[in-house]
Amino acid sequence: MAMVEAAPGQPRISNPRGLPLQSAFRTNPADNFTGYRSFKAGSFEFTRDEYFAHIRWPNGQHTMPVDAFLRALMRDVAWGFFYGTVNFDGVFGTTNYYGEVEMFAGAMNESFKAAKRDYIERFKSDQLMRIFKEMIGDWTNQGYDPFAAPMETGVPWGTKNGDNDPAVTRQRVTAKRMVGLPGDTPRRTDANGFPVNRMFADVPQDEPEVEVEPGFEHEVSAFNLFAYLSRSDVTWNPSVCSVVRESLFCPTSEEFILPVEHGNDRCEWFLQLSDELIWKIRDGSTGRDTATIVCRAGDICCMPSDIRHTGYSTKRSMLLVWENGSPRIPDLIREGKAPTVAVQF
Ligand SMILES: [Fe+2]
Repeated sequence: MAMVEAAPGQPRISNPRGLPLQSAFRTNPADNFTGYRSFKAGSFEFTRDEYFAHIRWPNGQHTMPVDAFLRALMRDVAWGFFYGTVNFDGVFGTTNYYGEVEMFAGAMNESFKAAKRDYIERFKSDQLMRIFKEMIGDWTNQGYDPFAAPMETGVPWGTKNGDNDPAVTRQRVTAKRMVGLPGDTPRRTDANGFPVNRMFADVPQDEPEVEVEPGFEHEVSAFNLFAYLSRSDVTWNPSVCSVVRESLFCPTSEEFILPVEHGNDRCEWFLQLSDELIWKIRDGSTGRDTATIVCRAGDICCMPSDIRHTGYSTKRSMLLVWENGSPRIPDLIREGKAPTVAVQF
């Protein structure tokens, strides 16, 4: 396995394919008809028209409906390429190496690979992120929020019509210790711009009473997680709400479809806190269907590290995603030193 030297104190970045880093990026002027800019990162070219996003690379091209493309791009941007692979669909996506990132076409698709038409390039994460942010900013029109449930936002179609920078530059919640602690990320309230979502009108909003011994005000805290999630203004956006070493609780509210197929690079626990969510599980490298899991309130499942998944939720539901954030896990799994499943029966 190829490695690059890392700065002291930084984990080394693995590069199992030994790919060189691309450094060419270009933003083209707005098209005379559509009004949208086009973008180039390495050899990948991105254009959008009134209905579609088009991706071209040296030996192929791919078209996605622009609503699906923008919802997926929004997650990749907001999550900082997230854990493992973010499949925008069965063809295009990114794989995170934590400091560097691979962008691919067909590399997680067995038909592309069998035909030797898969294509991968590698980038510094911050450089690719810069052009992804430009793209989501330019391609998102006024009134459309790619983070929102489809029934709670406008439409993405048509020629360039304004923008929605407040929506596409939202900062993902990442608590340092826990939501609600002094100096940490605040609870959501009407006053700070987070009203209760229409589908969670029945969720009690009372908060726990905490009596703290003097001197422990910064150490003891509690908050109503259900009330907090009932006020989420976005969907499919796991936010870090509590941190104990590498253990990250990332609750989120879900409505309609998880806009990406997340290819895990570690095991990931899902605790369904309310309502119902249907998980579609596929093989991580081929995309073949492997399982469907129906999770109702109280159900718990664990995604293995070698799968990809998307999810459906008709009624907005609450989900607790539990991640082990250790940077060592992906390499341990690649080297066969850690299992691909969390539990063996
Ligand atoms: Fe996942």
